Amino acid sequence: MSRRLSPRARKSWIVVHVVVSVGWLALMLCLLTLGATALTTDDADTLRTAYRAMGMLGDALIVPLSLLTLLSGVVLSLGTPWGLFRHYWVATKFWLTLAATAASVFALTARLHDAVHAVARHPTGSIAAMHLGVIRYNTVIVPSVALLLYLSIVVLSVFKPWGRRATDDRVRVGCR
Ligand code: HEM
Repeated sequence: MSRRLSPRARKSWIVVHVVVSVGWLALMLCLLTLGATALTTDDADTLRTAYRAMGMLGDALIVPLSLLTLLSGVVLSLGTPWGLFRHYWVATKFWLTLAATAASVFALTARLHDAVHAVARHPTGSIAAMHLGVIRYNTVIVPSVALLLYLSIVVLSVFKPWGRRATDDRVRVGCR
């Protein structure tokens, strides 16, 4: 895309981008809170509630937030002088977000469904009777890794380190 966004359109896309991408980060914080609650509780009903809530949040939000983050990021990259592969910080964000989107849509969703199905099979009874195995750890580890990744992407976004890629000599007009 060689055309640039107007200042108003650029600001509007930045609003969308920041809301959905930081919303994605906040979703991981919520999943981590619920996963940690399920890991540490002795109460089977608390654990069931936590896993059901994780399933609902995941099903409703993972796909729209991850795809909108990617879409708004690509629009801002191509519609501004930043470019998609012109600066290391943007290219790094792009590849990290692409990997995070794939991991969220496939791996994280699958781990959440494991938890939801495990409690659905045991609507009553103790935690031990559910034979949860690694599910209790996965539902903490996966959101923790995702949270650390998104926090580093926020740092990249604000500090914009490493400068331009050597292959591109265009002037940095309009970059902040
Ligand atoms: C979890 C993923 C992401 C997070 C948390 C995130 C976060 C942010 C934040 C907080 C800003 C505002 C920074 C500022 O104005 O100083 C920003 C700007 C920006 N982001 Fe992202 N972002 C993500 C993914 C992406 C992706 C995948 C791309 C590109 C493909 C991208 C491209 C950009 C660009 C080009 C800007 C600068 C916009 C401008 O100044 O006009 N972002 N991002």
